[in-house]
Amino acid sequence: MPLPKAELHLHIEGSLEPELAFALAARNGVPLPYASTEELRHAYSFRDLQSFLDLYYALTAVLRTEDDFHDLADAYLRRAAAQGVRHAEIFFDPQAHTSRGVPIGTVIEGLGRALDQAEHRHGVTTRLILSFLRDQSAESALATFESARPHLHRVHGVGLDSAEVGHPPAKFREVYRLAAEAGLHRVAHAGEEGPPAYITEALDELGVERVDHGLRCLEDPALVDRLAREQVPLTVCPLSNVRLRCVDTLADHPLRRMIDAGLLVTVNSDDPAYFGGYADDNFAAVREALGLDDETLRTLAANSFTASFLDEETKAARLAEVAAYTFAD
Ligand code: ADE
Ligand code: ZN
Repeated sequence: MPLPKAELHLHIEGSLEPELAFALAARNGVPLPYASTEELRHAYSFRDLQSFLDLYYALTAVLRTEDDFHDLADAYLRRAAAQGVRHAEIFFDPQAHTSRGVPIGTVIEGLGRALDQAEHRHGVTTRLILSFLRDQSAESALATFESARPHLHRVHGVGLDSAEVGHPPAKFREVYRLAAEAGLHRVAHAGEEGPPAYITEALDELGVERVDHGLRCLEDPALVDRLAREQVPLTVCPLSNVRLRCVDTLADHPLRRMIDAGLLVTVNSDDPAYFGGYADDNFAAVREALGLDDETLRTLAANSFTASFLDEETKAARLAEVAAYTFAD
């Protein structure tokens, strides 16, 4: 049995495996510019974040109905459960769908149905995080939030993703203010490709409770001190960082330096269908490449529950499971 863990950085659209993409394309009569799943997999070679996002958004074309979103989330939850994930906080990008004419209610209700079943079906508790595309306008984010209002009982937080450089967090101050007013949690991608100043801005201007990625904080020692002092969780995604060339190789990944600096780091899969692995695959990859010992892995798993938006009682129960876990030799 894999180490129990929470996954806090997972884009549901990034869990679309080639096989499901082809099945949904056939179901919906959507043409795909690839002859086979092998040919599609061959396209998974990325120069940077943008080259990945181009393919990621193109493939969302196969997602059209409530059942499609349900099936996508259910497939992720099944795989995640097999990797020891006991709790998942799942991002979705409504603008990637509404821009294609899919109503936001179709997206949220389809995902929500899968999430409702997840604890019973897969033993995974869930939260849903509505993410704004930062390379779209602040007005578009506001309109998206307003259109989500009838469905907010299914949404636990807001996030910020897509192309980072040139799209600073402060652009989204107003929609984050409204989200806070609506009682939602707030997180944002920052310091993946963008500068450390975006991390500071996300904390101070958007009031985020966690930073997604946050890798580039290491370029600013004062910021590292602050993140460590305030124990701001960072949701790090090692295989993603290599595939999107934020780091050269896994052996160069700064995860260990981040832990040693006293940061509250978690390990996550980001877009597992594209980056070569789900949650436990990321744990195994960093264990191997960075020589992490069992106690460090246990700390990373404990951090994932500590940094989650679970209620305190469930958090304590999951932390006890992590403490009691016995590693196989
Ligand atoms: N959308 C999906 N994956 C992303 C990532 N790693 N960074 C920014 N936006 C994303
Ligand atoms: Zn991400």
